[in-house]
Amino acid sequence: MVEQRELRVNRMTWEAEGVISVSLSRIENNDPLPPWQPGAHIDVYVPDGTTRQYSLCGDPRDLSCYDIAVLREPGGRGGSAFIHDQLRVGDRLMVTRPKQSFALEDAPYYALVAGGVGITPIMAFAEHLERSGRPFQLTYGGRTEGSMAFRSRLGALGDRVRFLAEDRDGMPDLDEVVKQLPEGGLIYVCGPLALLRAVEAAVDSAHGPDQDLVRFELFSRAGVEPKESPPPDGENYELVLARSGHTLRMKPDANILETVLALGVEVENDCREGICGSCVTGILSGTVDHRDLVLTKKEQAAMDKMMICCSRPTCARLELDL
Ligand code: FES
Repeated sequence: MVEQRELRVNRMTWEAEGVISVSLSRIENNDPLPPWQPGAHIDVYVPDGTTRQYSLCGDPRDLSCYDIAVLREPGGRGGSAFIHDQLRVGDRLMVTRPKQSFALEDAPYYALVAGGVGITPIMAFAEHLERSGRPFQLTYGGRTEGSMAFRSRLGALGDRVRFLAEDRDGMPDLDEVVKQLPEGGLIYVCGPLALLRAVEAAVDSAHGPDQDLVRFELFSRAGVEPKESPPPDGENYELVLARSGHTLRMKPDANILETVLALGVEVENDCREGICGSCVTGILSGTVDHRDLVLTKKEQAAMDKMMICCSRPTCARLELDL
């Protein structure tokens, strides 16, 4: 069962064109909220009963509230429009506990790259690295200066933050970002797919294609080319859910998450498109074609976990830790 709690909107602040931050705190008492680490997100329930994920962008040492930032997405599913147009200070919102699918790994240096509202988890990383005295550089790009949230707060980090408004400065020089990465350094990216692909291309051209230097979080699959379905002559396979004791014959393109949920087996899930990491499930045996945008190349190659909302088996028998 997903842990949920109702919080009250304490503050709403205009941060940039189309971006507001929302601060949520407890209703019934002042007990600390569950702790979180930079990069964590919460799921916010919107009136249609579905959830939207928002990175926490406050100070993780302050557990009196959770702060999120919301970009109004005109072509979105309505969650951001609800928050911008209808939600008001004093209203209540149901949220989940913080979840962590984007987290800092140990490294001697961090190149942080944010596009647009992708700054929210990246800012939490930057402030955490600043507090712990670890080296980093943040490259923050946006369409215009007015569309870039948290400029004054990030200004406190001094020359470790580069602000690049596309209409004034052009696109970030990602080759330069990659070139400055010392041995063992990692690149953290949050923003649209085009930004991630540009960073990956810069890494590939500087270091070769098999490097595992990039950690990322995307907000949507917009722009992701759908992968080919398994070959039509693909054999049905056996799906084994080890803990719940189910064994099924499955079509190769059947959605595993939907099948598992229909059996009454509980699995956390949100996006159902391989970008949030909620449905991560351990693989006990078998191999899969990873179609998510969460796991790193190294994690995908390890073949010990998968996103069951989107990935597909490439074996005759897939045994999962469910
Ligand atoms: S539900 Fe989001 S990755 Fe599977």
